Order: sequence, then structure tokens, then C-alpha cells
Amino acid sequence: MLDSLKDMYWAEKHLTKALPKLEKAATSEELKQALQDHLTVTEEQVARLEQVFELMGKKPQAKKCEAMEGLSKEAETTIEETEAGTSTRDVALIIACQKVEHYEIASYGGLTQLANTMGLTEIAELLGQTLQEEKETDEQLTSIAENDINFQAEQEGGEEETEE
Ligand SMILES: [Fe+2]
Ligand SMILES: [Fe+2]
Repeated sequence: MLDSLKDMYWAEKHLTKALPKLEKAATSEELKQALQDHLTVTEEQVARLEQVFELMGKKPQAKKCEAMEGLSKEAETTIEETEAGTSTRDVALIIACQKVEHYEIASYGGLTQLANTMGLTEIAELLGQTLQEEKETDEQLTSIAENDINFQAEQEGGEEETEE
């Protein structure tokens, strides 16, 4: 459990640095806003993890999360491979962000369950709160994609579509 917490502590801190880059690369105002909002939420999640460490009587410690590093590298590649100002890039960014959210949902889901099993109610509550936020972000990203970005990306055409 402690190991997973260190992993997520690294991951969330890493995201506070990665999200502004993704936000800058996005075009849709709605997507930019969502990424900005999630940055604020992510900063709160970092603080929440510190609270969890404290409740466990441990000093907050980060351990490099290879998965999150890979996912955020993939997001950066997305930016390199798509043209600025296109919905094609926005769609790719949304998919990259959703992969991050899904990783977080899996991790916090497991951690919450573990805390519950161990009878650490207060910790389970804190982790469950973060889990809920990640789920909401994932849903929000889906609806942004569904609203119009996917359609616009389709209209733009380009390599990404023909490769599919
Ligand atoms: Fe998070
Ligand atoms: Fe997240």
C-alpha cells in the first residue's frame, strides 16, 4: 500500500507539471478549461496524498511511476505529431488524457479497496474522494470529445484517420 501511495504521489506531482503543457497545446476552449480545472484538482490531490501519508505516520515520499512517465511521454509525442490549432490534436490530447485518468482510476480504485480492507476508513475516504474526481474528469473528457471535437477532427481528415 505504501509503495502504491509513493507511486501515485510521484504521478500526481508529475501531472502538475505535464498538464500545463497539454493545456497550452490544446485549441478548444472547453478542453483548455477542463485541463486547467484538472490541474487545480490535481494540486489538491497531491495535498490529499500528503494527508494520507501523515495518517499512516509516514513522511510523504515519491517513487518514480514508470507507467505515468510513459503515458505523459505519449501525450507529448501526440503534440509533436499533430498540427497546432487542429481538432485532430485535441482529439489525440483527449485520448492521451483519458489514458492517464484510467490509470489513476485503476490505481485509486485498488488503493481505496485496500484501505477499506485494512480498516483504514479515513484514508479510504480520502482516496475515494480522489477516485471520484478522476472518474468525473474522465466523463467530462468524453463529453467534450462527443460534443464536437471528434466531428471536427473527422472533417479535417489527415493521416490519423486514413491510418485507422
Ligand atoms: Fe490525479
Ligand atoms: Fe486525473
